[in-house]
Order: sequence, then C-alpha cells, then structure tokens
Amino acid sequence: ELEFFFPQEHTLALIKPAAAAKHKDDILQKVKDAGFTISKIKEESLTREMASQFYKDHKGKPFFEDLLSCMTEGPSVIMVLTKENAVEEWRHLMGPVDPKVAKETSPESIRAHFAQDILSNAVHGSSTKEHAQESIECVFGELDLD
Ligand code: TYD
Repeated sequence: ELEFFFPQEHTLALIKPAAAAKHKDDILQKVKDAGFTISKIKEESLTREMASQFYKDHKGKPFFEDLLSCMTEGPSVIMVLTKENAVEEWRHLMGPVDPKVAKETSPESIRAHFAQDILSNAVHGSSTKEHAQESIECVFGELDLD
C-alpha cells in the first residue's frame, strides 16, 4: 500500500474572487503541474461567516474588514487539495503574502504571477492541518476523503 510510505494530507485551497474571474484556468494548471489531486472543487461566493472562519487568527487586525470584503465580493474557486505534505506544499506554491516579496523571492509562485496587491493576492490556503480540517468541514461538510 503506497499510502503507508507517502501518507496523503488534505488542505483547503481557494482562488480569491478577483483572481477567480481573471486567472482561474492558469492557476488550476499550476495546481495540477505541482502534483496536487483536486479532491473537491466548487465555485461559490463565501459568506462573511466562512471568510471569518478561514481568517479567524486575524480578527481585530486593521485589515480584517477589508479582507472580508475582498473575500466576499464574488465567486471564489474553493478546493480540497490532496498530496503528501499538502498544507505546507500549497503554501509554498502560493508564495509570500506580499506580491512584491513574492516576485523577488519566489518568482514561480502563484502570487508572483497573479496577485494584484497584498490583500487581493490571488489565493488562500490553510496554515495548519487543524485549520485545514475545520475549513474543509465548513465549506464541504463532513467528508470521507481517505
Ligand atoms: P496571512 O495569514 O499573513 O497570509 P496568507 O494569506 O499567506 O495566509 O494573511 C491573510 C490575509 O490577510 C492575506 O492573504 C491578505 C491579508 N493581509 C493584508 O491585507 N495585509 C497584511 O499586512 C497581511 C499580513 C495580510
């Protein structure tokens, strides 16, 4: 059983509304090229509650309200991505939060290519396995993924 040697992990990945409108196909291609399996995918506008769940660690920060607006302004592409070490690998493929930094340090990252600014920076990904599990449940309900 391959799974014994290469345990699969799941993460919640999302193409933010502005990027979903303009760069959806290019970003999905990068996801596939990096070897992720797209286990679930749907297009849906996030509610404020869902966006708050994804970014609960940022509640109270000065950019929090702008972040909720940016995340709820149109349909996002929301995915469960599966791969060995998926949480960390997806964040690596996203690149640094600030596109200026992304262009300098991670020119192949999704944000280097497709981010507009630090807020509208193309993609989201859970920061830990625990967040991933909670966010996946929040969007897709209880899933039998393994
Ligand atoms: P963060 O969790 O630091 O980065 P990541 O998106 O890589 O998980 O920040 C979450 C989101 O908050 C980020 O995608 C955009 C927004 N944000 C700002 O608008 N300004 C900031 O200074 C930071 C740090 C984040």
